[in-house]
Amino acid sequence: MVKVAFFDAKAYDRPSFEKYGGIHDMEFLFFETKLNAYTADLAKGCDAVCVFVNDDVNAEVINRLYDAGVRLIALRSAGYNNVDVRAAYGKIHVVHVPAYSPYAVAEHAMAMLLTSVRRIHKAYNRTREFNFSLNGLTGFDMHGKTVGVIGTGRIGRIFIDICRGFGMNVLAYDRYPAENSGIEYVSLDRLFSESDIISLHCPLTNETKHLIGHGAISKMKKGVVLVNTSRGALIDAEALLEGIKSRKVGAACLDVYEEEADIFFEDHSGHIMDDELLSRLISMPNVIVTSHQAFLTEEALNNIAETTVGNILAFFEGDGFCENELCYRCGNIEHCKKERNRKCF
Ligand code: NAI
Repeated sequence: MVKVAFFDAKAYDRPSFEKYGGIHDMEFLFFETKLNAYTADLAKGCDAVCVFVNDDVNAEVINRLYDAGVRLIALRSAGYNNVDVRAAYGKIHVVHVPAYSPYAVAEHAMAMLLTSVRRIHKAYNRTREFNFSLNGLTGFDMHGKTVGVIGTGRIGRIFIDICRGFGMNVLAYDRYPAENSGIEYVSLDRLFSESDIISLHCPLTNETKHLIGHGAISKMKKGVVLVNTSRGALIDAEALLEGIKSRKVGAACLDVYEEEADIFFEDHSGHIMDDELLSRLISMPNVIVTSHQAFLTEEALNNIAETTVGNILAFFEGDGFCENELCYRCGNIEHCKKERNRKCF
């Protein structure tokens, strides 16, 4: 029986993992704590660890897991910026869930955008107190506006389709533009200067960290609406706050935040918030924050559990080849997946 230490476990994770794990006679040990250097030893005696976006799987943690006998890191997320895949090479294999419901994330991005643009968050609070005034709730039509989409992978392209349904003009930027996609690719500078709305759907890498900083914001249209359902560190939050205070940025919809690891997914309502920057952002009337919630649909949770259990089984059975292994040997994960039909090492 494969034994898996499941870190950062939440109540909503368990039913789907118990269901799919049970079908395949897999044992999950659910730990509420996040994985880090202090908690890695909890995985002793386990074959694999199952981790999420805010588990810190750095080189030290990887060495501890390896010494504890762990041979597989199974990410139950698409993004893997929190795993030092280079340090894992030669020791522990890493698998992820490349797609579980890109619709969930793209639809959440649009939900946040509509909420912000049509002031639904304010109207909701008002009518609950029988305040039916419309003052201050004026929005704008999405039809005819230009949306700039950065990253046109699975999620970005669904978001583009949704935007087209609204009659919006779409400009896009991607490091690797999709050929024959009918998407209008432009330079980042042009996207910044012509977009009324900018939505981020690229991964967090060294290159994309603080992609939206002072320089980028200075090139944007006054009143631009920024949407980030990708990774927090794509935006320099200090620069964003300044952009909002100077009225350059008209609104921000944030499902992710650079320093979210110790804050998001938990109830801090009875405590003083230490993060001044996040407090300031949340206090702004034109900022909407959700707590890394974009993935959270029934469909996505089931797909995540099914794929993760499938990844773990594929690794521990047969020749160990798993098509969702992150192959860092060649440094080109996506390309390598197409060529490779064996384990990364
Ligand atoms: P994907 O891999 O299908 O697409 C990413 C796209 O970004 C690709 O087209 C790639 O060429 C492009 N890209 C790579 N480097 C770039 C750069 N330097 N500049 C511009 N584009 C670049 O990934 P998918 O499934 O669409 O997910 C996108 C991101 O969404 C993930 O990396 C993850 O961070 C985030 N995400 C957030 C969730 C949430 O709950 N908020 C849930 C799932 C994913």
